[in-house]
Amino acid sequence: MVTKIKRANSSKPMSRNSFVFLARFSSGSRCSTSTLVWSLVVVLLMLHLYTLISHTDVQSKEIHRDMSHRILLRELEEVEEENIQMPPPRKRSPRAAKRKPRRPTTLIDEFLDESSQIRHVFFPTIKTAVDPMVDAGNDSFYYYPGRIWLDTEGNPIQAHGGGILYDEKSRTYYWYGEYKDGPTYHAHKKGAARVDVIGVGCYSSKDLWTWKNEGIVLAAEERNETHDLHKSNVLERPKVIYNDRTGKYVMWMHIDDANYTKASIGVAISDSPTGPFDYLYSKRPHGFESRDMTIFKDDDGVAYLVYSSEDNTELHIGPLDENYLDVTHVARRILVGQHREAPALFKHEGTYYMITSGCTGWAPNEALAHAAESIMGPWETMGNPCIGGNKVFRLTTFFAQSTFVLPLPGLPGLFIFMADRWNPADLRDSRYVWLPLTAGGAADQPLDYSFGFPLWSRVSIYWHKRWRLPGEWSGMKMKL
Ligand code: DGJ
Repeated sequence: MVTKIKRANSSKPMSRNSFVFLARFSSGSRCSTSTLVWSLVVVLLMLHLYTLISHTDVQSKEIHRDMSHRILLRELEEVEEENIQMPPPRKRSPRAAKRKPRRPTTLIDEFLDESSQIRHVFFPTIKTAVDPMVDAGNDSFYYYPGRIWLDTEGNPIQAHGGGILYDEKSRTYYWYGEYKDGPTYHAHKKGAARVDVIGVGCYSSKDLWTWKNEGIVLAAEERNETHDLHKSNVLERPKVIYNDRTGKYVMWMHIDDANYTKASIGVAISDSPTGPFDYLYSKRPHGFESRDMTIFKDDDGVAYLVYSSEDNTELHIGPLDENYLDVTHVARRILVGQHREAPALFKHEGTYYMITSGCTGWAPNEALAHAAESIMGPWETMGNPCIGGNKVFRLTTFFAQSTFVLPLPGLPGLFIFMADRWNPADLRDSRYVWLPLTAGGAADQPLDYSFGFPLWSRVSIYWHKRWRLPGEWSGMKMKL
């Protein structure tokens, strides 16, 4: 009779052979020892094979996901050239030509010239406006950088120098920006072109293409001339983040006077993403001048302020307090001596990236991408991220200036680069340049601190005359 012996953690009875094997082993024979060793080797080999197979399975699933992701991105990563014909030089009287020989005009001159014959290339007319409410069939969901973009009521979107908040509660995107209207004028001869402050505009969307006007969520002050928000002052680059602890929506912005000498940040707060926001105060963060700025909420809930300081020669970065209502005493100087503004910060696979512009008022200039392992720095400059168009396009950030970089859920490595194509002659007619930004692959420029080995992923912004988000994004019929 064979006695049934149960193995520990096994519901199967031991076979007769195993029992015999154990019995023999306990008798201490040499043959049993080698059998045991070989059995162990076989078991180990089988285990190894199993791990190998399951690992390969996971790997192949990952490769498959990566491949379909790459296929989705392929179209966006195509290099699209722009060939803009320069208009023939304007006729001048022979006397004028003799007095001052004209230097050849450049594409930038044409961009800045209100009466340029190719004005429509940079500022297409209302006839070409993007109207998401008109059923465009297969042409829906396309972004056309530089064209007028209409909201759901058919009015041009007014959200300049803006940023986007994704509100988990309502599963809605909110786009906040400078609501610019009214005439553009100069406060004095040397002053920057300006419009009177109206306030911060807010638009909501589920698909990032169809935007509903939620109104002015932080309004200018009409009467009180001493108020920060008096219409004669400057309110720029508003950004909103949500504080999970307090349940409040907090807005940070650049507050200035018409001469840009106040150089402060302003803070406002609301219970709802659509406002109204209560204006709290303005100050110079850490006691320093603060002009172009942004805020960034990290995965751990800590939020940071980044601002141009010391006459825009450098940026400063520092964490906000728990309530996001003030800075703390911690701050670092970054990109010292690099003269950068318009910071737009984002994170990819644990690395922090930032796009900035140069400092040339409302005129466009070259963007740079920067990267850091720790958000507090050191930050390294990687180079110009712009791809496609033509050389002038790339040297002018496609005739635009960075304002925000938006991550896209389900599409790791793909972001929307949001920029403003300012129209200094008529600021309310400034346009939006949204383009795909990808982070991935090795940087093509070895960096100072990396001993020749690029540490960061390449950041690329691809020019497209028209483009749309891949996959589900452009199939969504989630109109508001
Ligand atoms: C450049 C900045 O980036 C804009 O936000 C604005 O302040 C203009 N300068 C004003 O000239």
